Amino acid sequence: MEQQYAKLSRCYKTSRVFPTDVNNHNTLFGGKLMAYIDDIASISASKHCRENVVTASTDSVDFLSPVRPTDSVCLESFVTWTGKSSMEVFVKVITEDLITGERKIAATAFLTFVALNDDQRPVPVPQVIPETEEEKRLHETAKHRAEMRRIRREQSKAFADYLITDFPWE
Ligand SMILES: CC(C)(COP(=O)(O)OP(=O)(O)OC[C@H]1O[C@@H](n2cnc3c(N)ncnc32)[C@H](O)[C@@H]1OP(=O)(O)O)[C@@H](O)C(=O)NCCC(=O)NCCS
Repeated sequence: MEQQYAKLSRCYKTSRVFPTDVNNHNTLFGGKLMAYIDDIASISASKHCRENVVTASTDSVDFLSPVRPTDSVCLESFVTWTGKSSMEVFVKVITEDLITGERKIAATAFLTFVALNDDQRPVPVPQVIPETEEEKRLHETAKHRAEMRRIRREQSKAFADYLITDFPWE
């Protein structure tokens, strides 16, 4: 079974908060941050498996503190655990007040990507070798999150079967 160090999938991205990125509270628009998160997480997943990847799910994005225009926003991501063709990616968002230097965890997220071949079929990916304490902790707890996701996926499918696809103007 192929294995790869978690550190080889690590990515970092630091940005400023521009006036076009904020909401009516003058803090970073949540949708903008979610796009950054999906973007960086997909790069980690690709670096881990060196295949085409798609986002299968996002567990949640927990916005823990607002991001202000005086902050820099640093996103860090890496693959924490893999199933057969799926990869769990953890994303941590750290803000730094550029005047005071104070840092905060602004958000965290777990996303799942699936590696696909040229026929768009899932293909096996290497397992993860965690090294740091943070990597080990996230790796050890991942199986439980994957099981929760499996249950939620079944529920989502059942829910979708029950929804209508008619538009009101039809
Ligand atoms: C994700 C996708 C490729 C799965 O394809 P599938 O034919 O249903 O494949 P399978 O049921 O064999 O699942 C393949 C793997 O994906 C995982 N998976 C599928 N859906 C999942 C979900 N919603 N959440 C977490 N994992 C999921 C499975 O657990 C399985 O993992 P494993 O190989 O590690 O055991 C398919 O549902 C898809 O293409 N979805 C749309 C993806 C997309 O367009 N993303 C961009 C959003 S804009």
